Amino acid sequence: MYYPDEIIEEVIARNDIVDVISSYVRLNRRGSNYFGLCPFHNEKTGSFSVTPQKRMFYCFGCHVGGNVISFIQRYENMSFTEAVKLLADRAGMKLPESDDPEAKKREDQRSLLLAVNKEAAKYYYAQLRSEAGERGLKYLQGRGLTDETMRKFGLGFARSSKDETYRYLKSKGFSDDLLNVSGLFNFRENQGMTDKFWNRVIFPIMDTGHRVIGFGGRVMGSGEPKYLNSPDTPIFDKSRNLYGLNIAKSSKAKNLIVCEGYMDVIALHQAGFDQAVASLGTAFTTQHANILARYARESVRQGEIARHKEILLCFDSDGPGTDAAKRALVILHEAGLRAKVINMTPHKDPDEFIKALGAQEFEKRIEEAENGFMFEVRMLENEYDMKDPSGRSAFISDVAARLLRFEDQVERDNYAGLISYRYDVSKDGLAELISKQALSASNIRIAPKPIPTRKEFLDTADEASRLPQGRLLSWLCDSPELYTVVSRYISADDFADPLYRKVAQLMFDQLQKDGPDPAQILSMFPDEEDQRRIAEAFHSDVGKLDNIKMKEGALKDLMINIKRLSLTRQDRDDNGFDAIKRIRKELEQLESADIKLNQ
Ligand code: UTP
Ligand code: MN
Repeated sequence: MYYPDEIIEEVIARNDIVDVISSYVRLNRRGSNYFGLCPFHNEKTGSFSVTPQKRMFYCFGCHVGGNVISFIQRYENMSFTEAVKLLADRAGMKLPESDDPEAKKREDQRSLLLAVNKEAAKYYYAQLRSEAGERGLKYLQGRGLTDETMRKFGLGFARSSKDETYRYLKSKGFSDDLLNVSGLFNFRENQGMTDKFWNRVIFPIMDTGHRVIGFGGRVMGSGEPKYLNSPDTPIFDKSRNLYGLNIAKSSKAKNLIVCEGYMDVIALHQAGFDQAVASLGTAFTTQHANILARYARESVRQGEIARHKEILLCFDSDGPGTDAAKRALVILHEAGLRAKVINMTPHKDPDEFIKALGAQEFEKRIEEAENGFMFEVRMLENEYDMKDPSGRSAFISDVAARLLRFEDQVERDNYAGLISYRYDVSKDGLAELISKQALSASNIRIAPKPIPTRKEFLDTADEASRLPQGRLLSWLCDSPELYTVVSRYISADDFADPLYRKVAQLMFDQLQKDGPDPAQILSMFPDEEDQRRIAEAFHSDVGKLDNIKMKEGALKDLMINIKRLSLTRQDRDDNGFDAIKRIRKELEQLESADIKLNQ
């Protein structure tokens, strides 16, 4: 462990797992647990659970699980130390210095990469304002950008040269290894390091903490590729960053505008729409949607999520832009967000629109933005022959299938009402089509999903033996009062699986003291696979036990099962033969014991 256990314990305790995960995933309360769509695999039904009592999450679909720290690690793609830091920050805790060499190395590399980017951004920024950058400055001015805007976005210029930026950064003392992973240079055996960006205006990409994590560079005039971007690096992941969010996150506007490009964001901000962000040419991802959800949300209380910001899509009005918008709408929907679509015709993108018609007209277009689903349906019209009766009914069937995306009955009915009104179909007819589509859709959904990762580490025999062990751990966690009885017959040593044995030892210690705390146990196992198996154990289904007799019977069976498995344990420290003799005897006692729970 890189931090003392008490620190980890405090980090877990001060970051309510439901609170934290709610800011990434839309959760709904079901009983004492919360459920939502798993952010770690693609799914339509919510298999992802958060259990506040256990302070753990677990996905019944892909079997990923852990505590609040592992969630952040996985979601934010962070190391353990980084995740602990983030959560400590979130809770306003001060951390002691970390002393794990590996973690420290990664951490150091990240901060050095940030330093490289910062230095490069400063360099490009200065070039734009120097003689060498005159072309760039002219170009940006020609596109209507003011000095203030250029400053706000830190725009710069990389001039024509083979390795000028590289030599500059070398002079600042950065190593070749580091510069190589920074993504700013190309490396070839025969040429050495050369600048990736040259003769381009530079758009630094910042994270929400205003740190430069990557760059985009545009050719001036025509040329291919029009934009060159930093590749993904240890500090830059395109699918998790939105350009302009560092500013838009504090916008007072009632909505968030998502567009496609650098210049769109900049033009919108300059026109007063400081709520604009862009997904930068890469496809809009679930992670993007989750990030937007986070900033669109006002408050999360008791699993009830109040949103206050509308998401407005402002993608290019050409074919690819429209397709991208349709895909983004589905992704946003799955993340629990409803979006509207801004119509920019007859112009191609918000930059051109603002230039041609001005901010006021754009404000009008915001007000007139079309509901995302109705936009999708309107676009769908183009795929059918709407003049032909059978074309029309095929279209309506297609719409009915899409209405199924709304799991909420009231919401679906509202949309069905709109559709029936707009396309002049009877409400009953439409309702019938919807249920027909629901039937065939449910047939499709039954198809089993292969989950290879799990297969890789669990062969069935192993799983059969693990099941009862996990079940007992889970049950003890849910009903700690059983421990008095269990401890009479079962010791941690009886757990045949080495990992579960360690977990049982920790858990039994906890049960003797303050009570079970699986999230704390989990934090002692840094390995991802171990965490997954532990989370799985604590989410084992104990089954429905209606009365005390059934409970007593089930517990006895479970303990006998575990005791029998204990006999198969090969790795005992004490004399194997003696141990087996002893366990045989314990097993006999257990088999003839009368397990009573109500005292
Ligand atoms: P567009 O081709 O629509 O460019 O690409 P644009 O934003 O209108 O750019 P201007 O107005 O001509 O300067 C939209 C976005 O897709 C990414 C960029 O992020 C761009 O802003 N893109 C485009 C690339 O990454 N590479 C390219 O070669 C082209
Ligand atoms: Mn453009």
